[in-house]
Amino acid sequence: MTTTAIILAAGQGTRMRSKTPKVLHPLSGRPLASYSVGAAQEATGIKPVLIIGHGQDEVRQVLGDTADYIVQEPQLGTGHAVLQAKPKLQGKSKLVLVTYADMPLITPASLRQLINAQRNHPGPVTMLTVIAENPRGFGRVVRGEEDQVLCVVEEAQATPAQLQIQELNSGVYCFEAAWLWEAVEKIQLSPKGEYYLTDLIGIATSEGQPVQALVAENNEELVGINTRVHLAEVESILRKRINQAWMLAGVSIIDPATTYIEPGVQIGQDTVLWPNTYLQGKSTIGDDCRLGPNTIVSDTKIGNNCTVVASVLDRAVLEDNVDIGPFGHLRKGAHLAEGVHMGNFGEVKNSYLGPGTKMGHFSYVGDTHTGSEVNIGAGTITCNFDGKNKHHTQIGEGAFIGSDTMLVAPVEIGKGSRTGAGAVVTKNVPPNSLAVGMPARTIKKLEKSD
Ligand code: UD1
Ligand code: CA
Repeated sequence: MTTTAIILAAGQGTRMRSKTPKVLHPLSGRPLASYSVGAAQEATGIKPVLIIGHGQDEVRQVLGDTADYIVQEPQLGTGHAVLQAKPKLQGKSKLVLVTYADMPLITPASLRQLINAQRNHPGPVTMLTVIAENPRGFGRVVRGEEDQVLCVVEEAQATPAQLQIQELNSGVYCFEAAWLWEAVEKIQLSPKGEYYLTDLIGIATSEGQPVQALVAENNEELVGINTRVHLAEVESILRKRINQAWMLAGVSIIDPATTYIEPGVQIGQDTVLWPNTYLQGKSTIGDDCRLGPNTIVSDTKIGNNCTVVASVLDRAVLEDNVDIGPFGHLRKGAHLAEGVHMGNFGEVKNSYLGPGTKMGHFSYVGDTHTGSEVNIGAGTITCNFDGKNKHHTQIGEGAFIGSDTMLVAPVEIGKGSRTGAGAVVTKNVPPNSLAVGMPARTIKKLEKSD
């Protein structure tokens, strides 16, 4: 029995006071709407339909083909929004799930529970409600003498007695599709000039049809975002949720309040995260690593047993047993092979450092390939940019680059060669040779060591 999900996202989100549409504001590094889209997709197994209006081009561009889109213009209320989907969805599925794009914490499990409740319900709709002391502007669920649901009243229209009701309408429903597509045409314009989807509850009961209310087990899931204050509240709930899941999966987090893990990140067992650490994008972290304090890792792959202290890693790769920091900076395309040691104040960009290479202090390595077991002395710089183009530096296996060497690219240092302190290398140095001075001259062949 199929269920299609409709996610309402056409409203402007005026209270965000923003140039960006509300549903595109970032939440833990991802656009707000992507959470409800992902949850609906997971709960139904089908791509959801997103009702868009304000900022529709941007919304389509950001969310791409994760959803199908239907435009609502003008925006005449939540009932009107669902009506726009009728031509496309009527006859397509047995059930219709309705949720909001500004409610990112609802889980696929809760949506599935709602769908199952409606499957076993003889009436046309099951609604998710929440019992709360602070109504936050939600509609009130009015029940009759036998405790049956009668209707929903919006806060603006509620009587003083109704305002006291603590059972609130979450705005998430599962409808029997055939009934929905008939009933949605019957919604009348409200005094505020909108078509309220909530009127469907009263329409059902006035037809003598039972409405089922499923009371949410976890109120947190139904927090909606109307202002940036709500956005920050939700960010902290989401962070707590993500951190708890990782701790239960075997990751130690010294201070969850200052550890920021985005949803797309993977972390191995027995890794320890120290305070003020950010794991972002599609980063993957192996087992037994120690990251932080004060570290930012974005779209980076880290192997097992690595240590990264007070450093920034962006689009880089670390194989196993690498240690970095404090104050290391890896930029796009930095690849540190097994056992690389990179000490303080180093920067690596678009370069491969071979296994066991050591770069202890104050160096810049860009557009470079090193063999294994290279020693990069303090203050070494690859001068890779001539003002117009970037050039490549090649350093052979076992080479020893003296402190403060300038490698003026394109240039190649042969296997087993050495440069003297302060050398400015403008010409290739053959294997097993020593080059010194400015510009550097090769002064002698070295005895091969083994
Ligand atoms: C709605 C419910 C209220 C419920 C609350 C829970 C109605 C009339 N009221 O109120 O009972 O307690 O949600 O959060 O449904 N939208 C459109 N097109 C429109 C209008 C709204 O797509 O023409 C979208 C908005 O972008 C938003 C969602 O629908 O994502 C909810 O709209 P909003 O105006 O915020 O409804 P509430 O006043 O919160
Ligand atoms: Ca709202």
